Amino acid sequence: MELKNDLFLRAHRGEPIERYPVWLMRQAGRILPEYRAVRSKLSGFKELVETPEYAAEVTIQPVDLLDVDAAIIFSDILVVPEAMGLPYEMIEHKGPWFEKTIRSEEQLNLLDQNINVEERLAYVLEALKITKRELNGRVPLIGFAGAPWTIFCYMVEGRGSKTFSESRKLLYTNPVLAHELLSRITDVTIQYLKSQLVAGADALQLFDSWAGILGKEQYTEFGLKYIAKIVDSLSEAPLTVFSKGAIASLQDLAHLNCTTLGLDWNMSISETRQLVGESKTLQGNLDPCVLYGSDVVIEKETIKLLNSFESRRHIVNLGHGVYPDIDPKKVKVFIKTVKNYEI
Ligand code: CP3
Repeated sequence: MELKNDLFLRAHRGEPIERYPVWLMRQAGRILPEYRAVRSKLSGFKELVETPEYAAEVTIQPVDLLDVDAAIIFSDILVVPEAMGLPYEMIEHKGPWFEKTIRSEEQLNLLDQNINVEERLAYVLEALKITKRELNGRVPLIGFAGAPWTIFCYMVEGRGSKTFSESRKLLYTNPVLAHELLSRITDVTIQYLKSQLVAGADALQLFDSWAGILGKEQYTEFGLKYIAKIVDSLSEAPLTVFSKGAIASLQDLAHLNCTTLGLDWNMSISETRQLVGESKTLQGNLDPCVLYGSDVVIEKETIKLLNSFESRRHIVNLGHGVYPDIDPKKVKVFIKTVKNYEI
């Protein structure tokens, strides 16, 4: 299927573009009343994630309603620990929760080994196939997974946390166990992302939401090492590594074998460009809180961001996921400003 709008893929590869492509992390979700309507018919978040027809429907909503240049498959990073034998629940107003956690060898040994990823995550692959068909070539489709360090954090902690101190504790008390778990997550993630490409994903993103809680040395040993293994196995695909908060590691991220780096709003576009040169596309990085501002503020801040680009290798996005109480009208102002900007 020929893509009608492939700006996003061209920007990944550093090919010529006539304007900057734009999409938003977490665009398929609670900001849209149309999403909440689908969700309210179901028992909850998990049923939505696990029913391919519904997942495809909410994946396409932001393409119809917000006019973004890419769709991201509606799923969650936590489907990977579940496939490994650690089921999760999504508790309303609280977030993810795991009954079992991995903090010892005995617990690690309870995880399922040699799993058939395509079978266990068939519902995501089916959602990708349906979405691809229903998008009918309008925009590219993004597949994703959590980076091993972030998935490790949820498997050890069992829930969200401000400090993830149980996870960081394990790096000091049992680094061998930590590496074993990270390796297993890495192997499953490689298989999972490869199957997403086969099912129809045009590009991939790795979310390392908790990269910023590790010091530089530890992120090299417990984070980047595994990300490098993943990107080396997928070097054919346009792939974004989004290591939120990993400012001290930008130089190392620049050496990864991927097309694109995602930046959060604390990272400087121009300083990062100096580090990476023209070897990478940069994605990001408007502060999500800008979208609480007036239309004038949104236009001004968006243009400021666009003016800071010294290269055409850019994909415009927020510096993290869009907050659920943002008015979709404000998102449209952001998108329109990017689309009307002449490069
Ligand atoms: O539009 C998209 O970006 C696609 C869908 C998507 C979701 N989660 C849907 C979701 C993606 C890419 C994710 C990634 C994800 N999930 C990350 C990495 C990105 C980031 O935000 O740092 C993380 C850390 C998770 C884990 C997770 N899932 C948490 C901590 C929570 C609860 C907090 C929250 O935002 O409510 C979720 C739930 C979740 N994942 C929702 C959505 C739309 C909200 C659930 C609902 O509809 O009630």
